Amino acid sequence: MLPILLTTVLPAAGQRMKVDEIYGKYCAACHGAKFEGGQGGSLVDGVWKHGSSDAEIFRSIAKGNIPMGMTPWEGILTDEQIRSLVIFLREKEKETRVAGMEFPVPSPDTVTKTELHNYRIETLVKDGLERPWAIAFLPDGRKLVTERPGRLRIVGKEGKIDPQPVKGLPEIVEHGQGGLMEVALHPDYQNNGWVYLGFADGEREPKARVITAVVRGRIKGHQWSDQEWIYRPDEKFRAVAGVHFGTRFVFDQGYIYFVIGERGGMMESQDLSRPSGKIFRLHDDGRVPEDNPFVKNPDAIPGIWSYGHRNPQGLVLDPRDGAIYSTEHGPRGGDELNLILPGRNYGWPVITYGMNYNGTPMVAITEKEGMQQPLVHWTPSVAVCGLDVVTGGQFPNWKHDLLSGGLAQQEVRRIRIANGKVTQQEIILKNIGRVRDVACGPDGLIYVLLNSPDRVVRLMPADG
Ligand code: HEC
Repeated sequence: MLPILLTTVLPAAGQRMKVDEIYGKYCAACHGAKFEGGQGGSLVDGVWKHGSSDAEIFRSIAKGNIPMGMTPWEGILTDEQIRSLVIFLREKEKETRVAGMEFPVPSPDTVTKTELHNYRIETLVKDGLERPWAIAFLPDGRKLVTERPGRLRIVGKEGKIDPQPVKGLPEIVEHGQGGLMEVALHPDYQNNGWVYLGFADGEREPKARVITAVVRGRIKGHQWSDQEWIYRPDEKFRAVAGVHFGTRFVFDQGYIYFVIGERGGMMESQDLSRPSGKIFRLHDDGRVPEDNPFVKNPDAIPGIWSYGHRNPQGLVLDPRDGAIYSTEHGPRGGDELNLILPGRNYGWPVITYGMNYNGTPMVAITEKEGMQQPLVHWTPSVAVCGLDVVTGGQFPNWKHDLLSGGLAQQEVRRIRIANGKVTQQEIILKNIGRVRDVACGPDGLIYVLLNSPDRVVRLMPADG
């Protein structure tokens, strides 16, 4: 006999119900409209009687506990819906905790205290930059700062912006989240003068169609010159979507690593014949290394180093062991920190710890054989952007820690990694703007690029 009764009580168009509606309809009666508890316990006090991992909370909801009065929801709700309830409860738990918690919110002239260092914040550039995206440090103390609308600016030692942007850049299309993004100097810049740029390349008319590309060139006075393409995806890969461009560069032993986000094309991340949703490795002049993981696959783009990415916007090399780490935006929930290894699949969009932005479920699974797990994942989303490693210098107790920026959560998070595992996380700066980039300067100070308000600030060590 088919369980006809059960199927007929399934909610109509249930899959399209948003997670807050599911909660309101099926859970609020016992757990409270504000999750505060009632007949069932509070779901936001951080106390989980039956286990606090995602898998255990999933199990609590799916299997229920009939003698104690908790309905088993499997068969009534789908796995995807239960999975999105777990994410939703995580968001609510975090919101409740944050509301009652103090973070180091720095203000000028006051000392901000954190676990291992105290700092003062200094505003280097207050006005005159529009959507600063990335910073590079010239040997003479000046800085190069990209502005997303397409300008490359030179900022003097004391923070004065050269009124004249660099002229003659390649054509850059500002479109949605894309525009001029990354800038970095070749490690041997002193001798070869190469500056690398990552930007949205393509056409504006009749409709913007773009994808991330990488060039290098030299800056002579205010003139961009000697330009060479490092990677320019074929025109057929340009997309109208305004999202998920990735970029960010790392140089190591003659190679450049860079990111192209999935450009809204989700499944393209799993397709090795397309550049979107990939991390690349090329020689620093754009040639394909012969030992790249997919060079022998005739269908694959040979520059690909790893795949299954959504939108990584942080990339860094750990000088202790050469490990490459990346932070990647999840959808709603499920931001990730990954250790990037050659040829590996990072799972998007087959597995994720997040759900759709509108609260509908995405997928039920967070793990799958053959797909990498993140070192950590964050729900609710931090909107991770910008990543660097502390070189030491002015902040010796943070040496080798990663600093990860966040747009939505407006934070800089310090992450300690030991033996390939995250052993510590601390929010060291909060709520002074959307953090687009974090970079340790050659002076040992920590530079933070903010959007809304658009600023460059730096952290200076301070006593007491
Ligand atoms: C009829 C009342 C009732 C409804 C409806 C209900 N719950 Fe529960 N829930 C309970 C009770 C009672 C418990 C405590 C069970 C126990 O002590 O083992 C519980 C426990 C839980 C737990 C485990 C908490 C812990 O501390 O480990 C979770 C998670 C949970 N419920 C989520 C939900 C979700 C999500 C929904 C909606 C899909 C829901 N519940 C609907 C009564 C309910």
